Amino acid sequence: MTHLKNFLYSLYCGASFLFIYFYIFNIFFGRKVFRKYSPHKKNFENEIDKLKSQKILIGMEMQIINYNIPHIVKVLSDENFLDKKIDCLIIGCYEGHSTLFFLMTCIHAKFTCVDIWNKNNYHKRYNRDAESYFDKNIENFKQKVFKVKNDSQSFLNKNSKKYDLIYIDGSHDASIVEQDCKKSFDFLNINGVLIVNSLFWRGFKKIKNNNLSGVVNFMKKIKNFKIIYVTRSILILKKYKD
Ligand SMILES: C[S@@+](CC[C@H](N)C(=O)[O-])C[C@H]1O[C@@H](n2cnc3c(N)ncnc32)[C@H](O)[C@@H]1O
Repeated sequence: MTHLKNFLYSLYCGASFLFIYFYIFNIFFGRKVFRKYSPHKKNFENEIDKLKSQKILIGMEMQIINYNIPHIVKVLSDENFLDKKIDCLIIGCYEGHSTLFFLMTCIHAKFTCVDIWNKNNYHKRYNRDAESYFDKNIENFKQKVFKVKNDSQSFLNKNSKKYDLIYIDGSHDASIVEQDCKKSFDFLNINGVLIVNSLFWRGFKKIKNNNLSGVVNFMKKIKNFKIIYVTRSILILKKYKD
């Protein structure tokens, strides 16, 4: 049922044939990737639980990235990002859960972590102190993290740095998502990888105000990319030369 809804939602948003093809392809063939790389997911979950029990980490009840770990690790491994010196950008860090995943997985990478961390913007089921939780959670990796407390658009408008890996999980508003993707893509190195999370999230009443619409509009405006995966929650694509 989820897949049928996502399929119809993709059509409604005007997603390309290729996008839908990759989504369907992954329903049938993604399981193999999921099975092969799920030990990474389990290891990360166990490590987080252990560090939480030792009070080294706090919060992180919302572990959104977990389900996506197998596909992400496969791509990071194929691109040799696991032990290479790379520059990464993360937009939308919250308490630092996905940031920790990338920090623990790409062990020689440097990270720019952008979040607005606006207490008044968090829905009541979210932690309004997410920023201080983020600070505590990444304390042991401080030397690898450049923290930016700003909205993604202001950050990207001022940015001049290029990245090898960009993970977008910030605003879910279609127009901001489109801009985040577009501007991030401009700062992605050739052969760099862009990951967009919460692809099929539909929290806003007006269906075209949600993430996917922004992603679809962004993809219509670029040519030099190749889709790697469309799963039920992430899009992974790679940038090629124009
Ligand atoms: C779903 S949470 C991110 C979860 C995070 N990736 C994790 O693994 O825990 C979304 C985050 O994006 C931030 N955010 C929302 N709109 C933003 C914007 N325009 N610019 C930067 N950050 C934004 C919110 O403050 C929130 O912390």
